[in-house]
Amino acid sequence: MNATTRFHASRVTRKIRGTAASDGAGVKLTRVIGGAELPDLDPFLLLDEFGTDKPEDYLAGFPDHPHRGFETVTYMLDGRMRHRDNHGNEGLLGPGSVQWMTAGRGLVHSEMPEQQAGRMRGFQLWVNLPAKDKMAVPKYQEFAAERIPVVTPANGVTVKVIAGTVGDVRGPITQPATDPVYLDVALERGATWEYVLPEGHNAFAYVFEGEAKLGEGEDVRVLATHELGVLGGGDLLRMEAGGESARLILVGGHPLREPVARYGPFVMNTKQEVMQAFVDFQEGKF
Ligand code: FE2
Repeated sequence: MNATTRFHASRVTRKIRGTAASDGAGVKLTRVIGGAELPDLDPFLLLDEFGTDKPEDYLAGFPDHPHRGFETVTYMLDGRMRHRDNHGNEGLLGPGSVQWMTAGRGLVHSEMPEQQAGRMRGFQLWVNLPAKDKMAVPKYQEFAAERIPVVTPANGVTVKVIAGTVGDVRGPITQPATDPVYLDVALERGATWEYVLPEGHNAFAYVFEGEAKLGEGEDVRVLATHELGVLGGGDLLRMEAGGESARLILVGGHPLREPVARYGPFVMNTKQEVMQAFVDFQEGKF
């Protein structure tokens, strides 16, 4: 089968470099989605990359804070983070683990480093919820590294399937509303891979090691480390390591196409609902 006869080539339509930011009690991070340049990419509201060898950049952690109306997804590359919430849930996120937290109607939680030294590296992604699910009961999908399938779909290509499908392999995360794809793709020098994104998804690739060439023919664009490419034009994405090996996350989701009213940790459909979130939080209803 010639894939190109059935699918249209996807390409990078916009390139974005994250900006330095600080969140929680002063954790240094790079904000890629959710800043001025790319406020959102429906259904994605925020993408932060955190990565440092300096404990002073992360030790303060993310003490108690609320969320309502969306999902926070933490993917740890290095380091350990302990999370606790006001509903009695607690867990330790280790290297390679993922936590997909559906905040729904709201909770108060903390995310604190469980180490005094060494490297802390990973991503936090915010995924919006449709109006009908914004006030749902909070829920966790949490998987240690060994429960995330690893596939080798082509020579020199290793993919961790967090969400979505690669061949016959399905990632452990389920979320029917946005049907997300979340892949950690490692390309060895010279390796190429073609992946078909679900039809109608909004998607992006973010390179966190090396550089990658995305797209085909004249549409090839190079993403350097810490660059995000918004994808468009088609569903078949060709990836190639640019020079040395590369690592990227490829993330996609079904857009919700609903009005977004957001303020800090609350993401609702109307300003009124955001105000209500403040009131409910202050009255201890989370
Ligand atoms: Fe949080």
